[in-house]
Amino acid sequence: MTAIDTTTIAFAVNGTPVRVRADHPHLLAALREELDLIAAKDGCSPSGQCGCCTVLIDGKAQVSCQYPVAKAEGREIITVEGLPDAERSHFAQAFAACGGLQCGFCIPGIVVRAKAQIDKKGASLTREEMARHLGAHLCRCTGYVKILDAIEMVARGETPVAKLPRGIGSRGTKYEAEALTLGDRRFVDDLRVPGMLHAAVHLTAHARAVIRGIDTSAALAAPGVVAAFTAADVPGELRVGIIHKDWPVFIPEGGRTSYLGDVVAIVVADSRQHAVSAATLVAVDYDVLAPITDPEAAVSDPDPAVWGTDTNVLSRSVYQRGDVDDALAASAHVVHEVFRTQRVEQAFLEPESTLAVPQPDGRLHVYSGGQGVWDDRDQIASVLGVPTDEVTVELVSNGGAFGGKEDMANQAQTALAAWLLKRPVKCTFSRDESLLVHPKRHPIRMEYWAGCDAEGRLTALRCRMLGDSGAYASVGMKVLERAAGHASGPYHLPAIDVESVAVRTNNPIGGAFRGFGANQAQFAMEGVLDRLAELVGISGWEIRKRNVIKPGEVWGPGQIMDDGCLGAERCLDEVKASYDAAVAAGKAVGLGLGLKNSGLGNGFKELSKAVVRFEPDGTVEVRHGWTEMGQGVHTVALQVAVTELGIEPDRIRVLVDTSRELGFGQTTGSRGTLMGAGAVADACRVADAGGRQVGVDYVGEHRVEWTNSLAEGLEHPVIHSAFGYATQLVIMDRDSGAIEKVVAVHDVGRAINPTLCEGQIEGSVHMGLGYALTEDFPSDETGRPTHMTLRSLDILRPKDVPPIEVVLVETPQPGSPYGIKGVGEIGLVPTAGAVAAALHDLDGRWRDTLPMKPRVAGSAGD
Ligand code: FES
Ligand code: FES
Repeated sequence: MTAIDTTTIAFAVNGTPVRVRADHPHLLAALREELDLIAAKDGCSPSGQCGCCTVLIDGKAQVSCQYPVAKAEGREIITVEGLPDAERSHFAQAFAACGGLQCGFCIPGIVVRAKAQIDKKGASLTREEMARHLGAHLCRCTGYVKILDAIEMVARGETPVAKLPRGIGSRGTKYEAEALTLGDRRFVDDLRVPGMLHAAVHLTAHARAVIRGIDTSAALAAPGVVAAFTAADVPGELRVGIIHKDWPVFIPEGGRTSYLGDVVAIVVADSRQHAVSAATLVAVDYDVLAPITDPEAAVSDPDPAVWGTDTNVLSRSVYQRGDVDDALAASAHVVHEVFRTQRVEQAFLEPESTLAVPQPDGRLHVYSGGQGVWDDRDQIASVLGVPTDEVTVELVSNGGAFGGKEDMANQAQTALAAWLLKRPVKCTFSRDESLLVHPKRHPIRMEYWAGCDAEGRLTALRCRMLGDSGAYASVGMKVLERAAGHASGPYHLPAIDVESVAVRTNNPIGGAFRGFGANQAQFAMEGVLDRLAELVGISGWEIRKRNVIKPGEVWGPGQIMDDGCLGAERCLDEVKASYDAAVAAGKAVGLGLGLKNSGLGNGFKELSKAVVRFEPDGTVEVRHGWTEMGQGVHTVALQVAVTELGIEPDRIRVLVDTSRELGFGQTTGSRGTLMGAGAVADACRVADAGGRQVGVDYVGEHRVEWTNSLAEGLEHPVIHSAFGYATQLVIMDRDSGAIEKVVAVHDVGRAINPTLCEGQIEGSVHMGLGYALTEDFPSDETGRPTHMTLRSLDILRPKDVPPIEVVLVETPQPGSPYGIKGVGEIGLVPTAGAVAAALHDLDGRWRDTLPMKPRVAGSAGD
């Protein structure tokens, strides 16, 4: 009799019989960790809520992170790698041609789901059916519009030929689109190197507690464990931070925790599973303190919430123009309202992952998906206590970020482990760890007083903002500064008085998230504008038309606007026909008009460099320093090079180069396209002037060095060098209360690639509708987040996304390369205001708090 092998499981993968260890936590782990099949991605294992790990099991699409490996015995598993070549090519071409992907992390799972449905229904598969089936999947980038376009194309049997775009202004596929669609382009967690160890962190159990002792002995004794490191092992600086160095990479014995994302230890083992299990065995002795979680009380609390700080007030941004009291007193109408917005999670699909590899020459090579690999390098070097040239941080294009990967997550701890062990170490966060550690969108309380004359012309604005910035600074002070600057939206105010405070608490950290404070402020500003319109007796469109900022007028903190702001009025004019038609059809309508700066501004000296290099094989390398995270900065670089060099796009290879000093700061604030395009264009011109020699680095640069900070006290500071503008119209059915359509009119200055621009805007509107209606990331009185799964974040599913009509407007920004204004951040700035106005039109009630919808699917308003 043959003995049954209970230590292994046998099944077929992509037609090949395999045998894997039986102790994997789920089928996905067996596929990825043992069989090195990487197309199925891990976005949330083992919770089964993102769909990234979907595979075919005996012909049925199923999430493999919830599938016990033992259950796979004898079954047929198909991953994207195992689809027939013709089918792989068909999906890849369709997604690439339709712009059906951005970061690409979610797409291989969606391809599997689509294949299963197309196999079943063929050309009769409807868009609505497919949208319903995609309910098992999350895509945070695209808004699903172009994903469904691509799937429809495959179902119909159409075979588009995906083509790289040509020069500026041409449509074309995203760089690496085919490889991303098929899951072949590796993200950090997909990388493997010989001898690689795996690490897992132990996070604090309490948001505010003194650590009396840390005992790693049980973890060290666990199977497969190689080492465990704590603060005691840090040879250099303990604290890091993009602006303030206040964020400890570990909390030491005798130190104090400040939020639930604090790291106590990192455990290194021979497998991910061993590392994860052993990390739970780290024993920590706490002296638990009462957390400070009420931001309003924290402002005046003399007890610092955060270890190592002496005040809870992180920043105060203030400016005034004119006499607001007099102007409000003389106004025909005045409104006074308190608005509140919620904390929101970025929910990028790829959890943070770092791989650190010691080099034979003693240096350390770190693979990071961060938004600021240069900051990562400097901070890792400071933690290791070595010069920055001992560390190279190589960017691996990430699976979404939206601001949430500006700060380091696990880069420093992983680098430290690899450095001390002299062995490669990889650490990938679980979804729980990701949710706990990285900064979120700030909840802000905003009290607004606004006045206008009898014709609806704004007279004065006063606002007081208080943002809960959580524990560490991150870029919280800049977010509240940006909220202050954008407090008045794209309107001219003769008198204005703004104060915006960022306060530290023991809640989750507030940091960068697409829109960066402008979303919150303009939800409030659009709200007071609509209230004033009602008092005056004019429409939402009319009051915006009467007040929209014009060239030569003074904006917000005193900036005199240039011709770039003509885009604001053009957006309004472009939407007028749709607005009038919806009103005439008896629909409930809401309009939002917004602006968002591009670049850092506020006196920051911005410099970006790029290299163009002609290779002996006839190809041309374009090297830059920006993070590709789905937004298409590689494609922009390619299109600029095609335009400037006049060569075919397939001769160009785009690379992020961290071996040369090309990068200066974070890929944030819609600045990658603007700064990157300027630098690549300059490098091309330098190459032309130099005769296009083979093997020569032609270095170009783009500088923006003329902005002013508020602190300079100038009457008319140039706070920002460029702004994007957008109008969004939300149309609702009065009977059902459902959103029928969103018309999104965006002034992008110059659309480098209209397909990519549309995709960015569709994705933003999806995110903006979620922000307006459903999404939330609350925490309780202990500082603990209460919505700790992707599903509980209430991100809109594909079937809930209304049709989105995108209209691109091109009003060039003076002084910007090709007139570019950037598109990434403005996308959801006007959305919440527009939804609030439409809901008011529907039922006559004003909204002042986000999210506006109760947690009931299918319901339109609260
Ligand atoms: S990783 Fe399996 S559903 Fe998210
Ligand atoms: S393309 Fe879907 S999550 Fe990025």
